[in-house]
Amino acid sequence: MVIFGIIATKGGVGKTTLSANLGALIADMGLRVLLVDTDIQASLSKYFELEHQAPLGLTEVIGSGVVTEESISRTQWPRLDIVLCDAPHRQLAGDPNSSDLERYLQGRMDMPMILRRALRSPVVEANYDVVVIDTPGAQGPLLFTAALAATQLVTPVLPETPSAREFRGGTVELLRKLGEAEVLGIRPGPLTAVINRAGRTNDARLVMAEIRQSYLDFSGQVRVANTVVPTAVAYNEAATARCPVHRMRSTQAYATMHELVWELLPNLHGVYAGGAVAEPTLLAMEADHGCT
Ligand SMILES: Nc1ncnc2c1ncn2[C@@H]1O[C@H](COP(=O)(O)OP(=O)(O)O)[C@@H](O)[C@H]1O
Ligand SMILES: [Mg+2]
Repeated sequence: MVIFGIIATKGGVGKTTLSANLGALIADMGLRVLLVDTDIQASLSKYFELEHQAPLGLTEVIGSGVVTEESISRTQWPRLDIVLCDAPHRQLAGDPNSSDLERYLQGRMDMPMILRRALRSPVVEANYDVVVIDTPGAQGPLLFTAALAATQLVTPVLPETPSAREFRGGTVELLRKLGEAEVLGIRPGPLTAVINRAGRTNDARLVMAEIRQSYLDFSGQVRVANTVVPTAVAYNEAATARCPVHRMRSTQAYATMHELVWELLPNLHGVYAGGAVAEPTLLAMEADHGCT
């Protein structure tokens, strides 16, 4: 099972957008996907319409340390399920003072491995091929436990100079902190940086080159994906339509998301949404996949 942790040391860089669209495309390629929303803003929880809303969610998973059917909701899209973030609304069972999930996690000695252990529950192992965890923008125990649950980390980075520099510093610091978990026998997964919301300006091109250059000395810890996600209204429109972006009428977003999935999961190379092994024509795409 592959567990993606979509992380960043900053908000607004595209974590939730990427979590939703990666998960939805992988599910559309035929794999069974479980999304996990660990951001108390619960943006991923609201991203897709639900076909079934489970009575429980993240609070129970963190509190009990296991994932059961009762914590898994189903989205309207086939093979795409989700553990909703219910943290703002629910209190931890048996502890009326711990409605704050972060505070609860902070007090647990085994905090780094709580989500990691929970995602190895039989229900998850038996029913899912890929897990995608969306994480909070602020560094705290939820980001920490989520990042350490992942077998592969993915971080969106914006090609703007201040953002890129802060990203590098923030990422070094985060990787250092995650590295401390090695004493517990947990080694964080490899990190892939994905340049997101790339414009066509010269400045964007220069910053992208700088990002690639500055990661060369991370000696294997961080890789910058070849796939670059351009700025496109399709991503906003998809969010508004509560639809995976590859189902929107944007051939560019369709192609970009496929390339990115193939790069992150090379076993899926050449597999298209719908499980087809050949690229569908635009006409067929509009007929079959259009959300709008
Ligand atoms: N490639 C893109 N092109 C255009 N807008 C994007 C793109 N990726 C994300 N966005 C927009 O950027 C905003 C922040 O994205 P979001 O995924 O919520 O970030 P985060 O989860 O990191 O806070 C959203 O309005 C989203 O629609
Ligand atoms: Mg988010």
